[in-house]
Amino acid sequence: MTEETQAFNSALPQHVGIIMDGNGRWAERQGKPRVWGHKKGVDAVRKAVSFCRKLGIPSLTLFAFSSENWRRPEDEVSSLMQLFLFVLQQEVKVLHKNQVRLNIIGDLSRFSPGLQESIAKAQALTAGNTGLTLNVAANYGGRWDIANAAQQLAQQVANGTLQPAEITEQLLSQHIQMHDQPELDLMIRTGGDIRISNFLLWQAAYAELCFLDTLWPDFDDQVFADAIASFVRRERRFGCTGAQIRELAAGSTEGQ
Ligand code: FPP
Repeated sequence: MTEETQAFNSALPQHVGIIMDGNGRWAERQGKPRVWGHKKGVDAVRKAVSFCRKLGIPSLTLFAFSSENWRRPEDEVSSLMQLFLFVLQQEVKVLHKNQVRLNIIGDLSRFSPGLQESIAKAQALTAGNTGLTLNVAANYGGRWDIANAAQQLAQQVANGTLQPAEITEQLLSQHIQMHDQPELDLMIRTGGDIRISNFLLWQAAYAELCFLDTLWPDFDDQVFADAIASFVRRERRFGCTGAQIRELAAGSTEGQ
């Protein structure tokens, strides 16, 4: 186990991924259309971003629209697209002012030219910010991510610049989204379901999972703080035994 691995046991998560579920039910419980829940969900997004900034968590990844969400009723998909465009245009200056770098992950080719243009502009404006990287997964799927990486390596094999035997986990991981950011430490899902729904499949290999009944619009600093406190209390073993981890932890506090 490396020193870096050991440090993960006591530190705050360096990368948090969130499946923001429950907007529709939140709205329906109040007799409102589902899109109302998505709008309220944007307030929860703001809170989560500002919470990560306050704590100094360097990477936050939000699952905004999965590759399977196109199956939803046409009017809901269209409202979500309008909301994304509105939020991008509305929030990008605030994000920039707060040193947030915006990074959209997913297959963007299916989005309208207007949305693609806004995404490109927002990413370019915030590219140099170092306070927090906010990754928004849009038309994203974990299987797509892995297939996309495999395709890039296959192309190199076809070009004759890579031998199949040279394909290792490490090489493949360099072609997976967000490979230049800290490893995913904590994956949170709100809304009560206990599944990861094709989110960050590769990146979640050693992430701690946290499933909450809270519906996304009700997600606030207290809920986030509780999830992080639960993360900090967990013993991450990365294949080692508990005794090894405790021994290393004792060693790391010696002389402090
Ligand atoms: C899942 O709730 C939520 C979504 C599919 C959309 C999430 C979008 C936002 C929070 C707004 C925009 C965010 C950004 C980052 C621009 P659901 O509709 O599946 O809820 P349900 O399970 O109660 O039906």
